Amino acid sequence: MILLDGKLLSAQIKQEIKTEVERIASAGGKKPHLAAVLVGHNGASETYVASKIKNCEDVGFKSSLFRFDVSVSEQTLLEQIYALNHDADVDGFIVQLPLPAHISENTIMEAINPAKDVDGFHPVNVGRMCKGLPTYISATPFGVLEMFKRYDISTAGKHCVVVGRSQIVGLPMAILMQRNAYPGNCTVTICHSRTPNLKEVCRSADILVAALGRPDFITADMVKEDAVVIDVGLTRVPDATKKSGFALKGDVKFDEVAPKCSYITPVPGGVGLMTICALLNNTLLAAKGEIY
Ligand code: GUN
Repeated sequence: MILLDGKLLSAQIKQEIKTEVERIASAGGKKPHLAAVLVGHNGASETYVASKIKNCEDVGFKSSLFRFDVSVSEQTLLEQIYALNHDADVDGFIVQLPLPAHISENTIMEAINPAKDVDGFHPVNVGRMCKGLPTYISATPFGVLEMFKRYDISTAGKHCVVVGRSQIVGLPMAILMQRNAYPGNCTVTICHSRTPNLKEVCRSADILVAALGRPDFITADMVKEDAVVIDVGLTRVPDATKKSGFALKGDVKFDEVAPKCSYITPVPGGVGLMTICALLNNTLLAAKGEIY
């Protein structure tokens, strides 16, 4: 069993990005600039955004944070988005999800200029991904593809089962794995809460991507011998032994599943760290004008 080491890979990728930022600076170019919009005080969102900003600093990007109270109106948020769309210094920006219930995430996502949508959530960018056109691939699927590439894991002809059909992970993951490209060329099955024979389908997977957000859901009896198992789950569960009061749990029961796998991602230290690299990479692409 080989552990897919997100810590090691993300450090490598960040170093590559930093080197490129230094090259741009030495050629007289400006620092890539990522802005983040954060609404309210959701604990996980606060942590993610703080980490995104810290990682920008690590690689030499400029970053800006725009915070709003949980009661902010959709109109005020839209005005912030228009301002960022028109700010020539901002190469890309994200609006951290989830948003409060009175704000339509779809309206907000559609207001973002696709050229600055480094999360890859705008329908134009999702459509471009489906058509195999250059685009910003969203963070988690990008992180997983990068793991396949950097560990040289073969995917062509494999059965890839994606458990979870979320707009930001399961669905794009499935689309990317069936592409005529590497990584890709898989036969893909998407499973969800209405899939009746989930265990059997999972057991037929050469590559199993668990992205449903239910800790320890995937057990050893659901995994084929020598499968590649990618655990996208990252759920906070109360843990009094931790200073933060919580521990991060994946969707895979790691201790019993790992011995059966050819490759597996740990949680934490797996896919999660790769997602930040995806955002940095997309911001660099935006700054270099490589997509639009
Ligand atoms: N919330 C959870 N994951 C993400 C992400 O990748 N981007 C944004 N904007 N919000 C999120």
